[in-house]
Formats: sequence, C-alpha cells, structure tokens
Amino acid sequence: MTDHTDLLHRLPTPRCAYLYDTRTLHQRATTLRAALPTGTTLLYAMKANGHPDVVRTLATLCDGVEVASGGELRLALQAGARRIAFGGPAKTDTELAAAITAGAQLNVESPHELRRLAALGYRGDICLRINRTTTAPAGSHTMTGTPTPFGIDETQLPTVLADLPDGLRVTGFHLHAVSNNLDGPAHAAFLTEAITWAQQTARTYALNLHVVNAGGGLGVDYLTDTSIDLTPLSSVHIPDNLELILEPGRYLTADAGTYATEVLDLKTTHGRTFAVLRGGTHHFRLPAAWGYSHPFTVLPIDDWPHPYPRLEITDTHIDAVGELCTPRDVLTRNQHVTRLRTGDLLLFARAGAYGWDISHHDFLRHDPPTFLTL
Ligand SMILES: Cc1ncc(COP(=O)(O)O)c(C=O)c1O
Repeated sequence: MTDHTDLLHRLPTPRCAYLYDTRTLHQRATTLRAALPTGTTLLYAMKANGHPDVVRTLATLCDGVEVASGGELRLALQAGARRIAFGGPAKTDTELAAAITAGAQLNVESPHELRRLAALGYRGDICLRINRTTTAPAGSHTMTGTPTPFGIDETQLPTVLADLPDGLRVTGFHLHAVSNNLDGPAHAAFLTEAITWAQQTARTYALNLHVVNAGGGLGVDYLTDTSIDLTPLSSVHIPDNLELILEPGRYLTADAGTYATEVLDLKTTHGRTFAVLRGGTHHFRLPAAWGYSHPFTVLPIDDWPHPYPRLEITDTHIDAVGELCTPRDVLTRNQHVTRLRTGDLLLFARAGAYGWDISHHDFLRHDPPTFLTL
C-alpha cells in the first residue's frame, strides 16, 4: 500500500480529501529549472494553489512568488518568499501600499493604476503589462491579442509613456499571454518573440529595459498524463543585462494534487448510470469550468461497516457527479469502470492546480474536504 492510500484509508467516513504531495512539487520544479535557459528567474504563480504547505514549498524551490491580491501577498510573505511580483487588473490602494512596503515588483495594468501608484507616493521601477497586438500561442484563456481587462493595449503605449507620472520608470514588460499551452516549440517561439519585442520597444521609447516577464502558461494535458514538452525552451536566448522571468502555476502544482472522494450512491436513471460523490465541483470546479471530463481511478475500499447492502456495478460507463443540487455538478462523463461500489473512492489526479482554489466552496454549505500533505 502506498502512503497515499494509507492516508486515505485512515480518513473519517464519508471520505473526501485533497492530498498534496510536496515531493512532486520538488520533481516538477527541478524538471522545469533544468529545462529553462540558464539564468531564467522562476516565480510561482500562487493563484494555482494557495495552500500554505504548497506555497511554502514552492517559495523555497522557486526564486519567488507571483501574487495577484493582498491575501496572496500576505501568504507569500508568511512563506518567506525571497522575491514577490504583484500583478492583476484590480488592485486596491491598500493592496498597492502593502506591495510597495513589501518591496514587490509591480506589474502595472493601466494608466489609471500608474497615477494611483504615484499618488500613493511610489517612485521607482515598474513593469507594464501589455496586451499585444499579436495573437497568443494556442491554449486556453488567451489574454493578449484580443479584448481583455488585462494590461495596456499595445497601441496605447506611446500615450501611456508620454504621460508617465514623475518618478516612475518603466524598466520591464509583463507579457503573460495564455494558459495551458501544450505546444513546447510554440512556447519557446513566444518567449523569443516576447524578448525581441520588448527590446525593440525599449529602443523605440528609450527605456532602460531590465525585465521581460513572460508569465505562465506551461500546460498539462488532463486527458492523458503528458505535459508540455519543455525541451525547446532551453534554446531561448536571454540577452546580456536582461532578466527573463517566468511565473508558471499549473505546471508546478497540477501533478502534486489528488482529489479523493467517496461514492455515496449509485443509480441509473433514463439509461444513464451515476456515481454520486461526497464532493463535487464546489471542491474541484476545473472540469465544469473548462467543460471536459476529468479522468479518475478507483480506489477500492473493502471495509463496509453498514447494516444495509452495499451497492455494486460492474463493466459500466458512469458519470461521476457531486453532491450539489444542479445537473452541472459533473466531474466526469461516461468513463468505464470494471467494478465500483458505494464506499469506494474515486481519485482525481492532477487536481493540484486551479482545483480547490477556483471552486465555489460555500454553495450548499457542505463540509469541506480534509487537506492532507505528504
Ligand atoms: C499574470 C499571470 N501569471 C501567471 C499565471 C499562471 O499561469 P499558469 O498557471 O497557466 O502557468 C497566470 C494565470 O492566469 C496569470 O494570470
């Protein structure tokens, strides 16, 4: 029995847990570091998973942490992050002031935010987040080359630079473009193009460029066990005197999380069979948010302490559904099971990124899962 299953067996019933494995965080961070061009700065995008154990582990393994709120900033400071970058389109004055006090690198998303920073008394370097005119590499959540609330439209850059408040110096560009890109060569090309564009733009506007932050976006394929091929990234050339920053979240944390939840009921209605779970999309919203079926494995639990008969199905395709009163509470559709019984657990691997953190926990007020860290 692995230590995973041992821990799960020991949970109180009905069993429901998120299990985070810090050893996997080590593996992913090590693999990524080895694949990146020498000298790349690696920040962990905390929005993928803000569990304190995860943040603490990655704050140590990475050069720092990227945060997008005052809450994330506090967690990063508690985790002892050596370096913090603060982004996001809706920063409050309180958050900006806290980020200034913390000495965070500021990724500024609008001309209005520049004026607010200056009014707060900030003087110093900033990175401008730019929504480029060119399209992003393929992936989900395209954030550049298309209308979004993120960053400054590239065509507005001349005006923004001409009206830059006194004391603020643009020394970097933030160019996060896409989530879950599975195409390694395309991501390498995106990084190279981001560097080239930033250098040309800095020359055009006589900016003293130090930083190109290319954001996150390194993908994992939820339908297989593969991830983006990192090999092409090593060939990206970082010019002298320029820092390339990457801030991945998903690549580092997806594999480190398993969502495990007990089958409470099994039923067939109108010819379709459902495994009803002690859990669901209020714990793990990603499949519903992205509209795909998240694969699971079955962990048989042989214990059956109840006086009533145990339900069992064999050789059946099932929908794995949650405990919410909505037909959209579906984690997986139409996956085959050889055998499944009430009381068995479904294990959803690759649930460590944008799992619990993006879910609507309080809908229907069910108890939260247990959180276990290895
Ligand atoms: C600004 C920024 N940086 C980094 C990330 C992390 O992206 P990913 O988890 O796809 O690597 C995101 C995700 O949305 C983001 O918005």
